[in-house]
Amino acid sequence: MNPDAHPPLASLIKLENVSFTYPGADKPVLDKLALDIRQGDRIGLMAPNGSGKTTLLHTIMGLCRPESGSIRIFDTPMEDEEDFSGIRTRVGLLFQDSDDQLFCPTVLDDVAFGPLNLGATRHEAMDVAIKTLKTLGIKDLENQITHRLSGGQKRLVALAAVLAMSPEILLLDEPTSGLDTGVKLKLAEILNHLDISYLIISHEFDFLNAVTNRIFSMEEGKILTDDEIHVHHHEHVHKHGRHPHRH
Ligand SMILES: Nc1ncnc2c1ncn2[C@@H]1O[C@H](COP(=O)(O)OP(=O)(O)OP(=O)(O)O)[C@@H](O)[C@H]1O
Ligand SMILES: [Mg+2]
Repeated sequence: MNPDAHPPLASLIKLENVSFTYPGADKPVLDKLALDIRQGDRIGLMAPNGSGKTTLLHTIMGLCRPESGSIRIFDTPMEDEEDFSGIRTRVGLLFQDSDDQLFCPTVLDDVAFGPLNLGATRHEAMDVAIKTLKTLGIKDLENQITHRLSGGQKRLVALAAVLAMSPEILLLDEPTSGLDTGVKLKLAEILNHLDISYLIISHEFDFLNAVTNRIFSMEEGKILTDDEIHVHHHEHVHKHGRHPHRH
């Protein structure tokens, strides 16, 4: 086959040799980590608690600064705060903790905040916010006080706040935590209809399997991509043995 017939898809996020250690810690959380997210990729990341998944997303967003390695986003090297602030409106991060995402008094204000910040008029921002709330089936929450919502409701409002900014790539940190089965199915349907690339952290294999085309793991500060071929269940020695997995 002519290798030029299928040119490689554009890289959206590329990390090479990235190492990050929290101040005072004796070993790195990310250790010469490599990750390449390309146009069209829908990646799941499933790995044990404390393996560094959230730290990885914070590093991509410039919230944790690696001591070494390189980060390129939309083909631009990320070197200082100015570089990262330029991409934060284009990369939609759903924080693991919704309270880190939501800070306005009402739901509508929280979801309209991003579009307003991107230069939309108040009318346009409200319009986008209401449409997004409708898509997620939570329009009835629009006038609620955000901090009084349930955990699952906050999760959906945080997701609405991310989607309302029309990001070019999504990084979702445990989007289904606190969601009931019906809402999870709806979320899977919404993700499957989105025309953008994403990386989703989750401990729920069935959810990841429904919305992604590759599932990575993380161990000792590195991404493992050895489980990509087909999904099956059986007991054996490697780290996915207890879960349905691919190799
Ligand atoms: N702000 C912090 N300061 C110091 N250490 C931290 C900080 N945040 C996380 N860590 C440590 O870094 C390691 C990785 O944490 P991280 O939150 O990235 O893991 P995770 O894979 O997202 O876990 P989980 O599945 O529980 O969300 C853990 O050992 C944690 O204790
Ligand atoms: Mg985490």
